[in-house]
Amino acid sequence: MYTEEVMDHFQNPRNMGEVEDADGVGEVGNPSCGDVMRITIKVDNDERIEDIKFKTLGCGAAIATSSIVTELAKGKKLEEAQEISKKTVAEALGGLPPQKMHCSNLASDGLRMAIDDYHAKHPAESK
Ligand code: FES
Repeated sequence: MYTEEVMDHFQNPRNMGEVEDADGVGEVGNPSCGDVMRITIKVDNDERIEDIKFKTLGCGAAIATSSIVTELAKGKKLEEAQEISKKTVAEALGGLPPQKMHCSNLASDGLRMAIDDYHAKHPAESK
């Protein structure tokens, strides 16, 4: 029921852990299943995500979507990274079973929260 990409990211998650001295932190929980994820980002002077890591306590799809979201966001400007939606995440994984689509919310919401947190902590640097 899962694509090869999902299985690969689930079995070999990329960028797992926590960025040191994070510039932004996003923490989200999925009320329907109780799974939680935390995303930490490091942002350079050019407002580009230079490092990003995740910690997810959740199902296989939540881990795979967290992993791919870090790959999609790494190196992107904040404004581009903000556009990463649950659809982008699911597409990058070659699709998710319909009953698992809600799991991809966790990853895109977590990323957006980390970016919002960065803007809240660095008002002078944000537009
Ligand atoms: Fe909880 Fe997938 S079942 S995030």
